[in-house]
Formats: sequence, structure tokens, C-alpha cells
Amino acid sequence: MKHLLKMLDLSTDEIIDILNLADQLKYELKHGIPHPHLKGKTLGMIFQKASTRTRVSFETGMYQLGGYPLFLSSNDLQIGRGEPVQDTARVLSRYLDGIMIRTFEQKEVEDLAQYGSIPIINGLTDFCHPCQVLADLMTIREFKGSFDGLKMCFIGDGNNMANSLIVGCLKVGMSVSIACPDDYQPPVEILEFAAKYGDKFEMTNSPVVAAKDADVLITDVWASMGQEGEAEKRKKAFAGYQINDELMAQAHADAMVLHCLPAHREEEITEKVFESHANEIFEEAENRLHAQKAVMVKLMAD
Ligand code: CP
Ligand code: NVA
Repeated sequence: MKHLLKMLDLSTDEIIDILNLADQLKYELKHGIPHPHLKGKTLGMIFQKASTRTRVSFETGMYQLGGYPLFLSSNDLQIGRGEPVQDTARVLSRYLDGIMIRTFEQKEVEDLAQYGSIPIINGLTDFCHPCQVLADLMTIREFKGSFDGLKMCFIGDGNNMANSLIVGCLKVGMSVSIACPDDYQPPVEILEFAAKYGDKFEMTNSPVVAAKDADVLITDVWASMGQEGEAEKRKKAFAGYQINDELMAQAHADAMVLHCLPAHREEEITEKVFESHANEIFEEAENRLHAQKAVMVKLMAD
């Protein structure tokens, strides 16, 4: 594994290795055991979109690993003024030991990896959010003990989160059911991947059907970053695609609820369901730190 560009690139063994290391690093942090695996290394963090969790967890994580994180806002970089990604990649590869990038197009992340010579980590694109899904898988395993026989249900937009969850959950052996409106389905590339899993994958436009006997229910905002102008149109399209008590009644009684955050209460999830599953949701947010530290160690340690 040279980069973390998308879940589609990872084997099941690679995912499990990252999760195991993440568990170990979490244990070590909680018990005051230092783990300076990246002593003296630097991580550049390029942000073309806003972030709370990704920025703070990468920055803190790099510090805890003995390394140095550099926050690089695209507003201040020449890339924000049109310098080609091919040149940016070759320059930054001479200064840094790794790059985390949050941007719009998946191609930009893939190009950084192609033209640079250091590990690239995708901190979210319009296509996918692999760091978040590694943290989600870590949280599911932490609460449920294993992935065996579990069903994950995603309600809402066939967006970056849905894409990565479909791939990640299927790869670790879970069943996946997604409910989305017809015009907001995941891209063909993801549906083709999922089709290989036969009846372990289901897509419907009925949230009630998708939630039936689910062990984990997950949703995300209806309008992602960059789609703010479509917010009103999307509110109409997604009416009914909400995790609420009625939907929870379809799932197993001990079902978990996850949300990558930020959440829009009373849109994709009710306040009541959100707060009664806050325990899992904020553990999920914490696990970003541990999962990403594991990714950085796998990619950047000597
Ligand atoms: N879930 C997530 O990636 O959060 P941020 O946008 O705050 O980084
Ligand atoms: N789908 C959301 C995820 C935010 C972490 C977005 O892209 O804005």
C-alpha cells in the first residue's frame, strides 16, 4: 500500500491491518504509551474545502506520532491560482514525507499520487471519504466485536460517504443496503463493484426496506460541500430519507447509528435518534484520529 486514495484500492487484509493497528494505537494513547513512529517526518495537509475533524485529527495525530503537520490552505498555495497539480506534486515531494489532501475532484488526488513520489492520503473528495470509512469500520468492530453477519444500511444521498461505505463494508464481509432517491444513486463504478457481491448488496428507494434488520444505520448530509446552491432542491428530493424512530423500528433493537458529521438535525436524522446514539457517533469522530494515525504509520514509517 503506497497511498490511500479510495477504498476500492484496498484489499480486505490491508483494511483489517489498518484497523488492528488503529486499535493498538488507541490503546497506547489511552495508557500513556508513546508511539513516535514518524519522528522527524512531515505531513503537508492541503485543504480546498472546510474541515473540523479531518484537520484537527490529522494535525494532532501527526504530533502524537512524533512528526510535524503543515496546514496548507489552498487560498494561500499557488495551486489555488492555477499552478498545475503535476508541478505541485513534484515540488512538495522534495520537502515533505506525505500529503493529505481534501479537494473536489478525485482526479486531483490521483494525479498527486501519479506525479509525486511520496504517499498521498485522500482526506475527502466528491467521490469518496476513505479516512472516514476506516474510522466507521473501526467503530463498528469496537461496538459489535466483529463484522460477521452484520448488515449496514445507508440512507440518503449516493455521495462520497455512501460510495466509501458500500465498498468498505462489503470488503470486510458485511451486507449493505442503501436507500436513495433515483436521481441520487451512487456512480456506476461503485454499483458495478457492489454487483459482484450478489445479494449482499441491495439498493432501493425505500428507507423502510433498507433498514429492515439492520445492525448499523448511517446517513450523511443531503447537500455536501460544494452543493450549497442546490440545498433547497435537495431538501425536497430527500424528504422521507431520514433516520427517525419509525425507521429505527425496522432495524435490530441493538442497532448502532453512525454519522460522519457535521449533522443537520431534523433533516437526515432526528435530534432524538442522534442524541440517543451520541455515544457511538462521537466515538466514531474520535476514531478518525486513531484510524488516520494507523494509515500514516503504514504509509510513512521507515
Ligand atoms: N467527517 C468529516 O470529515 O468532518 P470534517 O469535514 O469536519 O473534517
Ligand atoms: N458528504 C459530506 C461529508 C462531510 C464530511 C460532504 O462532502 O460535505
